[in-house]
Amino acid sequence: MAFFLNGSISLVRVALVGFGTVGQSVARFLCDGARRPLALSHVCNRRVERKVVDWVPPTVTWTSDFEDVLRSDADVVVEVIGGLEPAGDWIRRALEAGKSVVTANKQVMAHMGSDLLQTAAEQERHLLFEAAVAGGIPIIRSVREGLAGDRLRRVLGVLNGTCNYMLTRMEADRVSFDEALREAQECGYAEADPTADVDGGDAQAKLAILSAVGLGRRIATGTIPLRSIRPVEAVDFTYARRLGCTIRQVSRAEVLDGGADVTASVQPMLVPLTSPLARAEGSQNVVIVDGAYGGETAFRGFGAGGEPTAVAVVSDLEAIARAGPIAPRRWQRTEDARVAVDFEAPQYMRFVIVDRPGIIASLAEVFLRHGLNIDSVLQEPDWPKSALPFVVTLEPCGSGAAQAALAEIEAFDFHARPPVWMPILPRGERCP
Ligand SMILES: NC(=O)c1ccc[n+]([C@@H]2O[C@H](COP(=O)([O-])OP(=O)(O)OC[C@H]3O[C@@H](n4cnc5c(N)ncnc54)[C@H](OP(=O)(O)O)[C@@H]3O)[C@@H](O)[C@H]2O)c1
Repeated sequence: MAFFLNGSISLVRVALVGFGTVGQSVARFLCDGARRPLALSHVCNRRVERKVVDWVPPTVTWTSDFEDVLRSDADVVVEVIGGLEPAGDWIRRALEAGKSVVTANKQVMAHMGSDLLQTAAEQERHLLFEAAVAGGIPIIRSVREGLAGDRLRRVLGVLNGTCNYMLTRMEADRVSFDEALREAQECGYAEADPTADVDGGDAQAKLAILSAVGLGRRIATGTIPLRSIRPVEAVDFTYARRLGCTIRQVSRAEVLDGGADVTASVQPMLVPLTSPLARAEGSQNVVIVDGAYGGETAFRGFGAGGEPTAVAVVSDLEAIARAGPIAPRRWQRTEDARVAVDFEAPQYMRFVIVDRPGIIASLAEVFLRHGLNIDSVLQEPDWPKSALPFVVTLEPCGSGAAQAALAEIEAFDFHARPPVWMPILPRGERCP
């Protein structure tokens, strides 16, 4: 094992597993001549012969066989292949082989993180995963170390750069969802299959990690309710503006008063323009944590891309080099928690109707029956009566009640398109 020799730091050998977007950026950083004591020793990738590049020193071993990495003298394995398996199994086996591990893999950490951290603790090895949440934003280290003295009770985030890029494009030029998606794909921000981004699965995994690390609440990732940004239209930004808001895909987890459980969700929300969430531009991410004593702390930066993500990976490697091979036993209280879906917020409902008299009266009658109070009715001029958009906002209520009312309203025959519903992040409560 390398690290400390006669009081000075010797080499820390790094085996890179996965030589794609993130892996190549990590390799570039490690080969830039200024990273001592970190030294790239192995690159492992399936059919690795396609991957060999001339800027990696000849001392580095290229292999397609992960067993070579396990048998090697590498001190740290960097897992950047992605996906649940074989990544999860390889991380476990690397730890059992006495190696520390750095991973950028949100799926593995969200679904298997607790078991893998247990294995790491048993082996007294490091398992660091800064890059798994919000890419280049050092949120994991910040909540674990910098805010360890507080009792965090809420996490709010714009955790998916693809969604944020698309929503800010729709807002800036009123382009359609499809056009924004096409642009995001052309710019390399969105995959050919954008499901995990736009429907919330990507942010769901990150939120589960933040809930465990930040709130000390371990929740089953799949139980966090998701709502897609697909129904958001350019016209929603016009109405959001009138309400002093914009629209973001918001990931939100909050400890319920006095209990172990949390409310959590990933969904499009109206956020006040004054909120740090509204200031996430393009593919940026924002994370706001709210502590019982320190109040709100906000972090903003690039949540994806090879280089920002490699910054997080290499920062983890440097932390391991500083700490030495034996991981200190961390004390973190983490309880198993259940996810409660409902939380109170003002609600935004956008209808596109074939206009006729009596529509507002029909809506008001449904809201009244569900005990919901209308706060405002907004209608922009100059839309055709055959597809007329207008908005109703409701005073704060549970999302369950809003959904139940909407289910009834959807049955009316005056809709030109299905209604769209989004909670409005309360102004002044947590975001001034
Ligand atoms: N890209 C980002 O901006 C970003 C940001 C934060 C976190 N992350 C995380 O970082 C990880 C890597 O992402 P990425 O964007 O670098 O992915 P990527 O570009 O697809 O790279 C993955 C690399 O791993 C290789 N690989 C995949 N499965 C393998 C297997 N079973 N055995 C051996 N090699 C395998 C791939 O080989 P092939 O070339 O043959 O496919 C590819 O070279 C993921 O967990 C991702 O969620 C990425």
